Amino acid sequence: MELYFATGNPHKLAEANLILKKFGVTLKPAPSPKIEIQSDSLEEIAQYAARAAYSSLRCPLVVEDSGLFIESLNGFPGPYSSYVYKTIGCGGILRLMEGRCNREASFKCVVFYAGGEVMCSFVGIAKGSIAEEPRGSGGFGFDPIFMSEDLNGKTFSETDPSEKSAVSHRGRAFRALGEWLSDSGREHTLK
Ligand code: IMP
Repeated sequence: MELYFATGNPHKLAEANLILKKFGVTLKPAPSPKIEIQSDSLEEIAQYAARAAYSSLRCPLVVEDSGLFIESLNGFPGPYSSYVYKTIGCGGILRLMEGRCNREASFKCVVFYAGGEVMCSFVGIAKGSIAEEPRGSGGFGFDPIFMSEDLNGKTFSETDPSEKSAVSHRGRAFRALGEWLSDSGREHTLK
């Protein structure tokens, strides 16, 4: 089964396909770009983008929106993670964290499936903390500074893609989509 994935991020596409392969689902890049509204809610951003993409493509697709939420920064950068990564990057986040004892953080991913009559969302959360310095060379975005609580202190950048996907926010959300597609959702999707 094939579905469109409205994203401009090749890392997200690769990670999602690694997970969905086990469910016999392949995501292919949507021909139209993801439309991003500004909102404090990942759910709202993903839902708006999925509905907009569906009204132009008219076939089943998924969109995802994700972000890094740092507890002692009141959830910053959250839905603004992409912009914050492009502007101040991992180094800027580490500077904002200087002198803070509470380094707890989580990644959240919302996957929104739009299939016409059927619209539904899947959420994945990965808990962890912000490292004192960047470590590792894999992954993308804030991976070098995020230590997952499921990886014994390793950052996401110090893992290989399948190790990251087993515990990541994206892994959890796309596995939930995969299970749903294998079950009740399959009849609503592309054959
Ligand atoms: P958006 O979902 O396109 O708005 O982008 C979310 C941003 O959050 C990305 O550009 C990354 O900076 C960050 N992000 C989301 N997921 C991950 C991840 O798995 N690893 C590292 N950074 C991530």
